[in-house]
Amino acid sequence: MIIVVGATGFIGQAFVRHLCVRNEEHVAVSRRYLDYYDPDRLSQLILDVPADFLINAAGFAGQPNVDACEDEKHECLYANSVLPGRIGQACERSGIPWGHVSSGCIYAGTNRGRGFQETDLPNFTFRSNHCSFYSGTKALGEEVLAGNRECYVWRGRMPFNHVSHPKNLLTKLLSYERLLDVRNSLSHLDEFIMACLDCWKLRLPFGIYHVTNSGSVQTSEVAAMLQSTIAPMRTFQFFEDEDEFMRVAARAPRSSCVLDNSKAIAAGLRLTDVRDAIATSLRDWTA
Ligand SMILES: NC(=O)c1ccc[n+]([C@@H]2O[C@H](COP(=O)([O-])OP(=O)(O)OC[C@H]3O[C@@H](n4cnc5c(N)ncnc54)[C@H](OP(=O)(O)O)[C@@H]3O)[C@@H](O)[C@H]2O)c1
Repeated sequence: MIIVVGATGFIGQAFVRHLCVRNEEHVAVSRRYLDYYDPDRLSQLILDVPADFLINAAGFAGQPNVDACEDEKHECLYANSVLPGRIGQACERSGIPWGHVSSGCIYAGTNRGRGFQETDLPNFTFRSNHCSFYSGTKALGEEVLAGNRECYVWRGRMPFNHVSHPKNLLTKLLSYERLLDVRNSLSHLDEFIMACLDCWKLRLPFGIYHVTNSGSVQTSEVAAMLQSTIAPMRTFQFFEDEDEFMRVAARAPRSSCVLDNSKAIAAGLRLTDVRDAIATSLRDWTA
């Protein structure tokens, strides 16, 4: 039996959907019914269920985007940095392994074109003195877990799929007046969820996994794909550079980055080419 913490969220709901499809017994947990910040209560739930695995899909990513985290620092720190530690405590005490939904946003850049591997030190954190508050708290959340031996840390990036949603990257790109043309790794939402679930199903070694599609894309490439498929009438405007973007449209710097997913691929996780994944999502687009 699997417990999903933060099951009402965008990522949490996707986990629940896929567990239903897989006929996997699970319990969806929300703060409304259980204070999962309290390790005693969470340990009791793990015992009562009884659960053999837990997924932490709870966190604070800001609405409508990470800029909101600059105003809600307490919530952000609590959900992204403190909560993983509390959940880790409860799981360790109960003797069950678990998976934590983290983010690739703790990196910036392409790592000289190679992409960042799981062993590369995050460079978009409070320690590197250049990050958004959101990214800083996500990196801290991972640091807190450093001692957890039976834990998967799944780093995803800018999820998208064929279903329009305010948190779907493709929907976001359609809704913004102007775009920042940067190179990024992305995660097809359903591939991300299936890969995370497969880590446990295949009993892969615990540790960090870059759960992103293969390759990377420029925002302008994605815009061109949108224009040639679902948004033929749409013209996209771009910021001159990151400086103009920061001056005009953003409060927090963004972590445009490329991740190397070869560890996940070598482990047998199915993560398709990013352009193919975008093309399939646009082909099946549901507004
Ligand atoms: N969406 C993305 O673009 C993205 C990309 C990479 C990684 N992630 C990570 O994925 C996780 C989930 O993100 P999401 O986009 O699914 O977020 P979301 O839709 O806002 O859902 C997050 C869930 O976390 C729970 N939560 C626990 N403490 C909270 C707090 N203090 N404030 C707000 N919510 C709290 C809430 O569930 P209950 O109140 O029902 O318990 C909420 O439904 C986060 O850790 C995020 O960093 C997201």
